[in-house]
Amino acid sequence: MNSVSLRLGFLGFGEAAAHFARDFSRAGVTSIAGYSRSGAKAEPGDPAYDRAQAAGVTLVRTVGALAERSDVILALTPGKAALPALKKICKYLRPDQLYVDASSNSAKAMEQAAAIVGSAAKFVDAAIMAPVDLMGLKSPFVASGPHAAEFRDRMTPHGMVIRVVGSAPGDASAMKLIRSVLTKGLAAILIESMEAARRRNVLDEVAGDVSATFNEIPFEKIIRRYISGTAVHCERRLHEMKECLELLHEMGSADRSTRATIATLRDLIRMEMPAKFPKEPADIHPVIDAIIAARDKAA
Ligand SMILES: NC(=O)c1ccc[n+]([C@@H]2O[C@H](COP(=O)([O-])OP(=O)(O)OC[C@H]3O[C@@H](n4cnc5c(N)ncnc54)[C@H](OP(=O)(O)O)[C@@H]3O)[C@@H](O)[C@H]2O)c1
Repeated sequence: MNSVSLRLGFLGFGEAAAHFARDFSRAGVTSIAGYSRSGAKAEPGDPAYDRAQAAGVTLVRTVGALAERSDVILALTPGKAALPALKKICKYLRPDQLYVDASSNSAKAMEQAAAIVGSAAKFVDAAIMAPVDLMGLKSPFVASGPHAAEFRDRMTPHGMVIRVVGSAPGDASAMKLIRSVLTKGLAAILIESMEAARRRNVLDEVAGDVSATFNEIPFEKIIRRYISGTAVHCERRLHEMKECLELLHEMGSADRSTRATIATLRDLIRMEMPAKFPKEPADIHPVIDAIIAARDKAA
């Protein structure tokens, strides 16, 4: 096992770092250091100190000491603290060191972090895709940048789950945010739809009906059918969505997501999608590329 050769440092030692550290210790990693501003002052008996002890972590008093003791630094600060924390540790970094920023942050902040690190260390943009308290070391990461593959190759043997996406710092964090456009947007549409269903006393029926549809069809197919089908049938769907809007108004139900759907359908009609796609294409790429081309031309 490579555990002996890994010297790991956590910049920020909060909830996520404590869960990871505990699992790394269990997996046999023996050299784990942690730094946080409160941890730097912690004494035996303080909760931060005891939490570190329980996770097999040595709390260090300075960022310099953290850099000195680590070959891989996993930065797990709150997003807004990521750049200030990096600026503090930067002068202590070494070119052979992996500096992995796993804070939840914008793609732009990750690009800035990569520029600050420069050649001082090997910067990796990483995004955690699951709640760490539930999945610990098995929490999936996506990572990007020129050193992402090295991060994956060095850490996978210790139990981490890392997928390299994109090639530039910022790609991994952008992917996490873009995924949220779907998941959080879907939540908003569900709320709007279920509010209307409840007002009409068909909540369980609607929930059951859409569940049956979504349970039956693999999501890859849903993505293709919904995107390709909407390009071909946007005119017909606009008509139906106007009726949906009317119904929501009659019931005094929320309509924000439905209005957004109508705006999207109108965009697709303006972009002449039905003429471009008389039949549903089997692949979503041409549809998405046509939308981008039309939007960029109109801009
Ligand atoms: N927990 C999860 O399940 C989860 C899942 C996905 C992503 N994430 C992301 O992972 C990051 C850490 O999450 P968390 O839940 O562990 O947060 P947390 O419990 O709030 O811990 C943050 C840690 O960062 C330290 N910190 C804050 N400012 C610092 C600075 N300038 N220099 C050094 N350390 C600093 C804090 O201690 P001091 O204030 O004492 O310095 C604390 O130890 C966040 O960006 C979060 O969005 C977490």
